[in-house]
Amino acid sequence: MSEVRKDVVVDIERAAAKEKHSLRAGLGLMALQRKTELIEYDCKEADCGICLFRIISGAENLSPPTKREADFLRAMRCDENERLACQCRVFGDVQIRIEGDPDD
Ligand code: FES
Repeated sequence: MSEVRKDVVVDIERAAAKEKHSLRAGLGLMALQRKTELIEYDCKEADCGICLFRIISGAENLSPPTKREADFLRAMRCDENERLACQCRVFGDVQIRIEGDPDD
C-alpha cells in the first residue's frame, strides 16, 4: 500500500500581507515559490539569508536544520525560532513571519 501524504497549511505574514497556502507534507517551503512572493530567495544554498523567517508556531513540523543552515544561523547569531526557507521541509501546519516589506 502506498503512503498517503496529507496537505499541510503554511500561514505567512509579512508587513501587512497575510497568506495561507496548502503544501504537500514533506515538501520544502520553496515548493510555494510560484504561489507567493512573500518569501524571497536568492542563493537557495543557505548562503545569503534573504529567505530568513521567524517561526510563530509549528516549529516541530519543520525538518531539522541542515548542516549548512545550522552553520549560517549560528554565524548570524539567529535564535532557535529563525530558519531559512530554502532549507526547510514542512511536515505539519506552520505559521511564519518574514521581516521587511516585500517590495523593499
Ligand atoms: S535563498 Fe539564500 S539563504 Fe535561502
